[in-house]
Amino acid sequence: MCGIVGYIGTRQAQDVLISGLAKLEYRGYDSAGVAVGDGACIAVKKKAGKLANLSGELAESPLAGTLGIGHTRWATHGLPNDTNAHPHATEDGRIVIIHNGIIENYLSLKEGLIARGHTFKSETDSEVLAHLIEEAYAGDLYEAVRVALGQVRGAYGIVVTHVDHREIVAARTVSPLVMGVGEGEMFLASDVPALLAYTRNMVFLHDGDMVVLHDDGFRITDLAGQPVERPIDHIDWDAEAAEKGGFDTYMLKEIYEQPQALTNTLIGRLHDDTGEVNLDIGLDPQSFKRISIIACGTAYYAGLVGEYLIEQLARIPVEVDVASEYRYRNPIVSEQTLAVVVSQSGETIDTLEALREAKKGGAKTLGVINAKGSSMTRELDDTLYIHAGPEIGVASTKAYTSMVSAFVMLALWLGRARGTLDETQARDLLHAARELPRLVEEALAPERVEQIKRVAEKYAHARDYLFLGRGVNAPTAFEGALKLKEISYIHAEGYAAGEMKHGPIALIDANLPVVVVATESRLLEKTISNVQEVRARSGQVIALLSDGDTENARHADDVLYVPRAHEMVSPVVNAVALQLLAYFTATALGKDVDKPRNLAKSVTVE
Ligand code: F6R
Repeated sequence: MCGIVGYIGTRQAQDVLISGLAKLEYRGYDSAGVAVGDGACIAVKKKAGKLANLSGELAESPLAGTLGIGHTRWATHGLPNDTNAHPHATEDGRIVIIHNGIIENYLSLKEGLIARGHTFKSETDSEVLAHLIEEAYAGDLYEAVRVALGQVRGAYGIVVTHVDHREIVAARTVSPLVMGVGEGEMFLASDVPALLAYTRNMVFLHDGDMVVLHDDGFRITDLAGQPVERPIDHIDWDAEAAEKGGFDTYMLKEIYEQPQALTNTLIGRLHDDTGEVNLDIGLDPQSFKRISIIACGTAYYAGLVGEYLIEQLARIPVEVDVASEYRYRNPIVSEQTLAVVVSQSGETIDTLEALREAKKGGAKTLGVINAKGSSMTRELDDTLYIHAGPEIGVASTKAYTSMVSAFVMLALWLGRARGTLDETQARDLLHAARELPRLVEEALAPERVEQIKRVAEKYAHARDYLFLGRGVNAPTAFEGALKLKEISYIHAEGYAAGEMKHGPIALIDANLPVVVVATESRLLEKTISNVQEVRARSGQVIALLSDGDTENARHADDVLYVPRAHEMVSPVVNAVALQLLAYFTATALGKDVDKPRNLAKSVTVE
């Protein structure tokens, strides 16, 4: 995450930076910092903690200047202290940078820079950028940034300024950047709301874009230095719409944020060259004999996918519990238990109490958590952050797919460490995981979304729905049913496909839509047999099929095609289609999807 603001013009830059950063604090609040100058000098001030710490100091001793860059941090590399706060400067203070993202090859770059005489002040990956730009600088700041970026691998939104130049150079790959175009002034930010008080004319930069901002204009190129044209869009959103990024609802915005959220979950953790996963946790993978996964609601379903993945790939016995049951059932826990709690908010009281219960029994504890600094993270031995960014829609979407991706990595890490996965198998899965942001982007292609909307509207007046899935996608069916019932209020059951004949089959008649997750898998034929059982009883089959599976399309009334994915990562891709099915059903019925009745985003009561 992290938020960036940049300004060049006639106003006092400090004011623009602080007001913009205040709108971006949702992107992180581990520290904040600004660099302000005028083209002949630059002063830096940065402070650990919330923006208020910095803005308080700046109110007492302001930094004067009409050019500046500012940052609010969500720490990834290095503690959230003053030194690791951005901006980062070269040793002589002449070049100052701010970075959002992760430089995946920073360690090898840093070693090289140190060997060539550079001294580092912080533990961040970002500081390498300042030194690389310094090395490449020969009087042209834009060119130096371009050459430096040619050496880095990873994600970045970067803004750079140099004491001798009245300009800001910026670039992005993966991490967002939008430019605001004013009269005799220019702006940059990670997100539109930071700039709306100043301009509504915005240029959305694309991956691989570089831009140079001057007082009276800008120039965009690609990373090869070739000029690029981008339109100036006039944004007429009101403040609330701006926070929703132009989408009608937070939920839809968050569904569309999934490629970015997944990139943030995976980035810097998967190493293709060695087939290794680096989770940056202190846990000894040999120090336990069984795993208890504990969570509530959607997070619980992510845990069920986790169970399947860990047992398959790492051959460790796993049990999964609903937290409200675990905490009262006197669970058998020992020092050889690893308790994994899963939570978006990190505050859900049942999960927090279950964590305490596991600790009482001597378990080691690991959290798969989104919210930084939340109550659970303060009590866990280790936290595997999913970095999905803030989730505001009450129905969880991007946190779910990021949690499942975190379990893919955890299972891979355990499998490698415990010798149940060889390098070839690991590389194969690692490659499949790396593909997830792209596959989810494809799953959100307009023609697919339109088809899901058509199907949702066709069945929106059904009284009940049944969702079926098998193996690693049984929890996809459970989660699909939960999404539908919580935002559309249609009664929905999620079942393991093979279990249908033991009861729910009695519900099937011509009025019952049955969603069957039947994407490519080693159990696909068995799932298709279950589809036949539904059809034999006149049920309406909505099949989720892998692209190109026209053979099985014959058995369905309606088909939702999803991009082909490795079976072990397919729950991530499949969940997206079911989120959209629930979404369009609810909107067809006129429901308030962001605030479904009776629900709360963070459940801190029993
Ligand atoms: C459903 C949903 C809830 C949460 C559950 C746990 O869409 O969001 O079921 O998953 O309340 O919340 P966290 O993950 O914050 O512990």
